[in-house]
Amino acid sequence: MSTPSTDAPARPRILSGMQPTSDSLHLGNYLGALVNWVSMQEDFDAYFFVADLHALTVPTDPEVVRRRTRVTAAQFIAGGVDPERSAVFCQSHVGPHPEVAWILACQTAMGEMNRMTQFKDKTAKGQNANVGLFTYPVLMAADILMYDAAFVPVGEDQRQHLEITRDLALRFNQRFGETFRVPEPYIPKASAKIMELTDPTSKMSGTNSPDKGILLLSDTEKQLRKKVMSAVTDTEAEVRFDPEAKPGVSNLLVVHSTLSGRSVEQLQADFAGRGYGDLKKEVADVVVEAVRPFQERMAELLDDPAELDRILARGVERARVVAAATTDRVRDAVGLLPAAR
Ligand code: TYM
Repeated sequence: MSTPSTDAPARPRILSGMQPTSDSLHLGNYLGALVNWVSMQEDFDAYFFVADLHALTVPTDPEVVRRRTRVTAAQFIAGGVDPERSAVFCQSHVGPHPEVAWILACQTAMGEMNRMTQFKDKTAKGQNANVGLFTYPVLMAADILMYDAAFVPVGEDQRQHLEITRDLALRFNQRFGETFRVPEPYIPKASAKIMELTDPTSKMSGTNSPDKGILLLSDTEKQLRKKVMSAVTDTEAEVRFDPEAKPGVSNLLVVHSTLSGRSVEQLQADFAGRGYGDLKKEVADVVVEAVRPFQERMAELLDDPAELDRILARGVERARVVAAATTDRVRDAVGLLPAAR
């Protein structure tokens, strides 16, 4: 049986995905994950996919799923993913994802899935509890392990999913011999959890946050400014970074700092003696500045769906090569006969 190192690429591999569950990515997706994808693609062999199979856990009109899948892929590229360098593809276009997920599911204890906090949170908020939603982390583990990913750049909310992925890889290797590379999460310290503007104690979420609480990358300048200017803060007047006592102001400082490249300390000093109005105005300016070129690129991409489909076709070709090699390894490890080709 071959080992992961046999297929290891010259540059270590990274892989990550986003669900097409709303009409646009939001600033949390961008700052928590996409900016790192873009900077890491320089040094790593990078694979980025639209998690369309995961999106089916939320009942959605098929036409909407199709539209959102294309928009999400276009937004990866508008945000700076370079399809010449990185493989951009749809999860469902690589046949073996559910196959490897099934094999991993047979190694997963019910109790492990019962402990997944995202399932508990989502169902507590009223999302219907289908079996797909329950086993969602196993499919995510398959996504990652099938590519021998060394690092997985994600936001803080995915940490538990990365932990179960590592556990499953270690257990599988122990039981069946070295098969999977055990991946490391890559979670940025500062911007790993961007909070909702209307309730800065909840994370900004495309499926759960109210419209006023999320900054969508497709929002107009007017909408972005309005949402930032009405962000919930606190009754003091001091601009200070203190996520416990001042979650709203701290969130605005993080957004400013990540987009402008100025440190939070520097911003605190700059805003000493100035009010929240000034801070919000400047945050709105940096957000609008960041989103403008993104939207221009986005419009070009959506104007040429054939080119977008070509990009996805090129990406999936690369992905299939890697996935086929690992899937053969996994099938063999558990004792499935090789299929005639
Ligand atoms: P998803 O689609 O919910 O989110 C996509 C990425 O955005 C990050 N993120 C945030 N970061 C900071 N602040 C926020 N408020 C915020 N909201 C979202 C997420 O952490 C994520 O990195 N299960 C994944 C999709 C997935 C996947 C994978 C990811 C499927 N298979 C394999 C990595 C590897 C998800 O639902 O992400």
